[in-house]
Amino acid sequence: MTDPRSRMDSLAHQRVEYGALGAADVAADPYSQFAQWYEQAADPVREPNAMVVATADPDDPRGPSARVVLLKGFSAEGFVFFTNYDSAKGRQIAADNRIALVFPWHDMHRQVRVRGIAVRTSAEESDEYFAKRPRGAQLGAVASRQSEPVESREALHRAYDRASAEYEGREVPRPEFWGGYLVRPVEIEFWQGQANRFHDRFLYRSTEGTPPLDAGDRWTITRLNP
Ligand SMILES: Cc1cc2nc3c(=O)[nH]c(=O)nc-3n(C[C@H](O)[C@H](O)[C@H](O)COP(=O)(O)O)c2cc1C
Repeated sequence: MTDPRSRMDSLAHQRVEYGALGAADVAADPYSQFAQWYEQAADPVREPNAMVVATADPDDPRGPSARVVLLKGFSAEGFVFFTNYDSAKGRQIAADNRIALVFPWHDMHRQVRVRGIAVRTSAEESDEYFAKRPRGAQLGAVASRQSEPVESREALHRAYDRASAEYEGREVPRPEFWGGYLVRPVEIEFWQGQANRFHDRFLYRSTEGTPPLDAGDRWTITRLNP
């Protein structure tokens, strides 16, 4: 068996090739920069659309909460994900719609961090996305009281079967409690890992003052200490 210490040793000496991110390389606006990195992440990163979403209800003494969700859309308006509006995150957003996202693209030694304001997508946009989901996922969304306690796995299956029977032979309508959020960014940071922990960090902020940002806003780009 390999001595675990020698394994630690070889990890410590592992050399990682980092790409650099210089002031001349970053795009003038963060949306183009994100689009470029997202495209580059498609190959090395297994699920580049998996992002951590952090929310906090200021009245909850337990503090902030974070979980992974999938990015389902991205444009100069912001970042879109879908979920249950009555879930823990939905309730936190209802209490305080300030939100943070992290794209942890370890395989590329990259990270993108977004702070922003979450607003519900329009009913039409949520309907459109819901209609494209596989029927099983639609029934799952109808049947799940996301984040609420459930007595057993069997109880979950029963709820699914009830939904399945209810909509047999017809389309599953989007439940009102399910839909999208658009995260309108206030600031976006791009982090590129570098040797000696001397990482490159660039922070985009709007010069227009109050959040959220509008597509036509101007940006300042600041390099941060690692
Ligand atoms: C890879 C991955 C993708 C996920 N995608 C979603 C998603 O798009 N929407 C969602 O509501 N939950 C998604 N989840 C589940 C969430 O992490 C979380 O368990 C759920 O939304 C309940 O969170 P809450 O109780 O904080 O509201 C995903 C989990 C993983 C690990």
